[in-house]
Amino acid sequence: MSTTLQLGVLASGRGSNFAAILDAISQNKLDAKVKVLISNKQKAGALEIAAKHNIPAVFVSQKKFSDPASFDGEVSRTFEEYEVDFVVLAGYLRLLSQKFVRRYKNRILNIHPALLPSFGGQGMYGHHVQEAVLGRGCKVSGVTVHLVDELFDHGPIVKQRCVPVLETDSADSLAARVLVQEHQVFAEALQLFAENRVEIENHRAIILPGKERN
Ligand code: GRF
Repeated sequence: MSTTLQLGVLASGRGSNFAAILDAISQNKLDAKVKVLISNKQKAGALEIAAKHNIPAVFVSQKKFSDPASFDGEVSRTFEEYEVDFVVLAGYLRLLSQKFVRRYKNRILNIHPALLPSFGGQGMYGHHVQEAVLGRGCKVSGVTVHLVDELFDHGPIVKQRCVPVLETDSADSLAARVLVQEHQVFAEALQLFAENRVEIENHRAIILPGKERN
């Protein structure tokens, strides 16, 4: 049994995770509907992907708002207008304000291209993450999907998957190997919420067993 998630997606960049979520929905692997996509970057690829799929796409200019809370207030208003009940950060490079996080408490999911709690936090995005992983000589890295709180890359972990780090890796080749897993794991984590299988206990997301799907 699952309930269709009414998704509001926030993205700042190319949007490949957003595209993977749309694929999972169309393949019936994820019980969700994307109600609206919002980007804080006018040239974000994610806006084009939304347009191609006839999904409402909104660019919200940061220049119009004097502080992060009022920017988030605009995002919140738009999500309410589209009756969003779950928020997806698909490559979104802004910290969410306290009011927004409280409004969607335990209903905001982010994806990070490393195994948290290592290699996360402010400034840890894109190639910075993979360079740090390689610089530390890690032999495995991976993907983390986690709930969002008021700190960068900090909320309860919902799903992780490992990838090997090869001696020959560059930041780009490692990022590409991680991205393949990101595209699977994000939709799988969202489906856990659609099936109401995530319980939060302190800083821990507990995953309840599911019924086998035919
Ligand atoms: C991904 O690597 C994701 O882990 C991180 O930002 C990147 C977004 O890529 N949060 P894309 O825009 O989904 O292609």
